[in-house]
Amino acid sequence: MDKIIINGGKKLRGTVRISGSKNSALPILFASLLTDETVIIKNVPSLADIDTTISFLNFIGKPAVKIGDTVKADKSGKYKHIAPYDLVRKMRASVLIMGPLLARLHKVSVSLPGGCAIGARPIDIHLDAFKKLGANIEVKEGFVHTSSKGLLGNTIKFRFPSVGATENTLLASVLAKGRTKILNAAKEPEIEDLANFLNAMGAKVSGAGTSTIVIDGVKKLHGATYKVIPDRIEAATYLIAAAITKGEIVLENANPNHIKAVIDKLKKSGMTIEIYGKTLTGEGAFVGANNYSPSTIKIKWTKPLKPQNIFTAVYPGYPTDVQAQWMALMSLTKGKSEIKETVFENRFMHAAELLRLGANVKVEGQSAFVTGVESLSGAPVMASDLRAGAALVLACLAAKGKSVISRVYHLDRGYESLEKKLKKLGANIKRQQT
Ligand code: UD1
Repeated sequence: MDKIIINGGKKLRGTVRISGSKNSALPILFASLLTDETVIIKNVPSLADIDTTISFLNFIGKPAVKIGDTVKADKSGKYKHIAPYDLVRKMRASVLIMGPLLARLHKVSVSLPGGCAIGARPIDIHLDAFKKLGANIEVKEGFVHTSSKGLLGNTIKFRFPSVGATENTLLASVLAKGRTKILNAAKEPEIEDLANFLNAMGAKVSGAGTSTIVIDGVKKLHGATYKVIPDRIEAATYLIAAAITKGEIVLENANPNHIKAVIDKLKKSGMTIEIYGKTLTGEGAFVGANNYSPSTIKIKWTKPLKPQNIFTAVYPGYPTDVQAQWMALMSLTKGKSEIKETVFENRFMHAAELLRLGANVKVEGQSAFVTGVESLSGAPVMASDLRAGAALVLACLAAKGKSVISRVYHLDRGYESLEKKLKKLGANIKRQQT
């Protein structure tokens, strides 16, 4: 298992290019199963979760390859309808195989999912939605078996705006007969990106990005070429990297509109942030999603940062995927802050590891109370999940001396070329392959 070694204390400076969004690319790749024609997806990051998804598509019967940042999912014939444990256990987003296969084959059997160890992460909202569309569900021997005689549109009200359940319902309903309405849908930018891609394939989806999504089922979808939006969580992580190392970074190919909540907190904390847009059309402009163009974000540390409380919330609130990184930053501000996690249970595993670096954090139920310290010092630490791992990298970049981060495979699931990008910004970081 690889380790990352960081000698902390270097101020980060320079330019970093933000990769395509993992959480958009995953459902979009699964959506390619909705057509037998060729689909070309651009701006796909090179990550373990993407490789898993490509293996998945090939296993099911959609020949897919990734060359550079482009995935070509080719013409397909017959699909398999069983997703085995070996593939599903690697990634929780594997449950997104259900929507497309239910739509195309009217049946699918999926081993119960794995993925990040944050809370219980059930899939009841996904399954309730499938039921509403006319599917029968049976859970037996570690598998969820879903079948139908053909899906029928319906109105579905989610008890919570789950991102994955919104995506799965979209994927299932685009080929269902009649109209589907999702009420209390997730509004995350990745939902809008998926809907734009589905529409590019000939689907009729409106309202994505709001809490009511309307889908008018069509008989067939065709091939399409599409470009994935930039990764807002990666962008936010690099902004915090600049803050925690007292540096000055330029982010290219980012979308500041998607991380307003984080930018707002960084500004309130004392960071200087400037945003430069590019033209909306022409070479390099992104297709569709959210009416934006990729922008450049400049961030600069000029003075000691003030503590800021955050509470995580569904979009456009402060993202749960940037909660751990915020905790690392708050550990080095003068004063006290509260970090409240409202989206997931049990998403404070990074707190114990931050203590090993000298942070002062107390977890009480849904909140973590941070008292800033003068400095952190390097130590061996362990990544327990993807974003917890990111928080440790940030803390180690700021800590004095040498840190060794183990279980790096969590980071490889979500950060493209992490060491390379940080090295280019001046960090003293290397990977030790074992
Ligand atoms: C997605 C993101 C993840 C992010 C999360 C919240 C991907 C691949 N992953 O995960 O990075 O942290 O959104 O922004 O896009 N829940 C249920 N029942 C369900 C589904 C969810 O109770 O059927 C609960 C979960 O346990 C959790 C909360 O709802 O507490 C949020 O989950 P959800 O929005 O579904 O997140 P994911 O789609 O898994």
